[in-house]
Amino acid sequence: FGMASDYLWFEGIPFPQVEYRIENLRSVRDEFVVRDEDVITLSYPKSGTHWVIEIISMIHSKGDSSWVQSVPNWDRSPWIESTAGYERLKNQKGPRLFTSHLPIQLFPKSFFNSKAKAIYINRNPRDVITSGFYYWRTIKHVRNPDTFEQFFEWFLQGNVTFGSWFDHINGWLQMRGKENFMIISYEELHQDIRASVEKISQFLGKKLGPEEFDSVLKNVSFEVMKNNKMSNFSLAPDSFVDHSKGKLMRKGVVGDWKHHFTVAQSETFDKIYKEKMAGLPQGLFPWE
Ligand code: A3P
Repeated sequence: FGMASDYLWFEGIPFPQVEYRIENLRSVRDEFVVRDEDVITLSYPKSGTHWVIEIISMIHSKGDSSWVQSVPNWDRSPWIESTAGYERLKNQKGPRLFTSHLPIQLFPKSFFNSKAKAIYINRNPRDVITSGFYYWRTIKHVRNPDTFEQFFEWFLQGNVTFGSWFDHINGWLQMRGKENFMIISYEELHQDIRASVEKISQFLGKKLGPEEFDSVLKNVSFEVMKNNKMSNFSLAPDSFVDHSKGKLMRKGVVGDWKHHFTVAQSETFDKIYKEKMAGLPQGLFPWE
């Protein structure tokens, strides 16, 4: 494959062609000033980003659901790399929440000398592929897969929006052990949301009363998020997403890849996974 014209390319990474601009991506990396009080959600797409945004939003508002019920998630925790998100965040006073799918080398340089807190959410890459297959069909101005086989190949090549999953995780995992960097997985959230929210609020230094805490749990459930139009992406502009083709809040389960991978794909994936993840200790992730 070459530099396909159906993406916007910056430093070898494919971005959607609308909502993103080269000059802006450069300013984000080189000029954006991260502040110590910022709280950042980081992820490779389809890893549970919106789930973490919801948890952080609910903790931020101390269990009061009016914020998540009235303001879309992309305004609560804007994507720094999108042109609109960058413009909004630059001028925002007070503590900021923001989100990014950027690989570490494109992230604002100022973060690395700051005390801003960042949470990196990750997920079994097999489920990331599965979720991504359905999701990228709904997004306009990116390469849309026709078949699962096709998307599977693109994913392994890194020829998908935001580039290679393997590069993304290997890059960001260099930050592990840093005091202001927390790593959590979709599978952990799924297995024990109470303990996960507890862990996240501790990391953020926020203490919640029992009722506030219960309200967080209730509002970040799949069912509530699926029905909250401020959280389920249904208000995303038609210029960006074709809502007739699928939903952000699709299934919300662990292990759906088993209904999609062939035996051969599973073997191919295992082999490539082993090669590409050789630089990280084994057993770092729940799916290993
Ligand atoms: P599926 O497509 O497997 O259902 P991202 O936010 O990074 O784009 O990830 C989207 C995935 O997270 C989707 O996965 C979506 O259903 C899932 N998700 C979002 N909120 C969730 C929640 N509260 N509980 C479980 N899964 C959730």
